[in-house]
This record gives sequence, structure tokens and C-alpha cells, in this order.
Amino acid sequence: MKRANRGIDKKSEIKQKYEASSSIYDQRYKNIQFEKYKQIISEIQFKDNIICDAGCGTGLFIEFMCDSSAKNLDNIFKYIGIDISLKMLEIFKSKVNKNNDLSKKISLVLADLENLPFRSHSVDTLLSVTAYQNLPKIISAIEESFRILRERSNFHISILKKKIVKDQLLEFLNSKAHLLKIIDKKMIEDYIIQGDLKQSESGNL
Ligand SMILES: C[S@@+](CC[C@H](N)C(=O)[O-])C[C@H]1O[C@@H](n2cnc3c(N)ncnc32)[C@H](O)[C@@H]1O
Repeated sequence: MKRANRGIDKKSEIKQKYEASSSIYDQRYKNIQFEKYKQIISEIQFKDNIICDAGCGTGLFIEFMCDSSAKNLDNIFKYIGIDISLKMLEIFKSKVNKNNDLSKKISLVLADLENLPFRSHSVDTLLSVTAYQNLPKIISAIEESFRILRERSNFHISILKKKIVKDQLLEFLNSKAHLLKIIDKKMIEDYIIQGDLKQSESGNL
């Protein structure tokens, strides 16, 4: 089988996996994901900006923010959630539909992280929690996300440790960004990496 086809097959397999488990996702992963958000949240600036959540799933991050008193969602100008699974997005939508003010700020987009339907330099903050390890080419997917970020934007990404070589990831990120924080805790199954994109990197990839 050709390499490109293997990539497409892996992607549709992953998509089907999330479609099939979407109804039990929150029950199984809510507490685990909330622990990651707690680590991430202190560094995110919510100042009239556009946040893109790459691989947003069922919207647990927004749920966490609504429960959290630490940060105020009112300051988000726009939140764009992207996911390849329609069922995950439908669950997300059903949660925010109950809140009119919140739903006005949220756009959900069915798309593949390797081919984002956005112009370069259109987003202020990139968030992605436990999503990139699903991609056949993790680094290319992150590069595609960086393409849509404005200059010097900040990013907050987490990736399952067992699915990536940390040194390779850091080497790539160091070439594109000023890294602010790398969180590698025993109790958390992801590396969490936060940083600012270097001026020349956003939109020019
Ligand atoms: C482990 S879940 C994480 C969801 C969410 N970020 C959270 O914190 O709960 C991974 C998500 O990535 C999505 N995903 C996997 N491959 C993707 C791709 N190629 N493009 C967009 N989303 C993808 C899945 O559908 C799933 O919703």
C-alpha cells in the first residue's frame, strides 16, 4: 500500500474510533482532560482574541472554563473548535446551544487538522489538547496549525507522551517558537508545551 494511502486509512480509522466512542467520551475522559486544562490555563491570555482549539472533541475545554472561576470566558472574542468527527462536534454543539451568549462566540468546524480551511495569520491563540498524536504526520499537522496563527501568537499544545519522541518535538518547536513552559508530570499522560511563535514563522510556512 502506498504511504499516502496509509495516512488516509489511519485517519479514517481514527475518525471512526472517535465517532464510535463519542457518547462515552466525557464520562471516560472528563476528569483526565480537566487535569490537563488546569496546567494549561494559567498561561492563556483571554483578551479579545480569537482562539482556535485544534481537535476540540466534545467541548470539554469550554465546559471546564464555564466551571472555572479563574478565567473569564467573556473576554474571548471568538472560539473556533475544529474536529474531524461530526459526532464529537454534535455533542459539543448540544452543550453550548443551551447558552445563547456563549454559542454566539463559538464556531464549530468539521475539518482535518492537516488541511485547515482558514487563511494564514487569522488566529491569535492555538489550543490543542491530546489531538495531534492522532495524525499520521504530527509535526506537519502542527506546522499547518502554526500557518493560521498571527505573528507572535501563543500556543498551548498537549500530546500523548507514548506517541511522540519528545526531543524531536522540542527540536521542531524550538526552531519555530520561543518556548515558555514545558510540563512533563508523571501523573499527566501528555507533554504540555506552551510558547510564542517567532515573528517570521507564522503564516509563512
Ligand atoms: C483525545 S480527543 C481530545 C478532544 C479534546 N481536545 C479534549 O480535550 O477532550 C482527540 C480529538 O481529536 C480529533 N481528531 C483526530 N484526528 C483529527 C484530525 N485529523 N483532524 C481534526 N481532528 C482530529 C478526534 O476526533 C477527537 O475529537
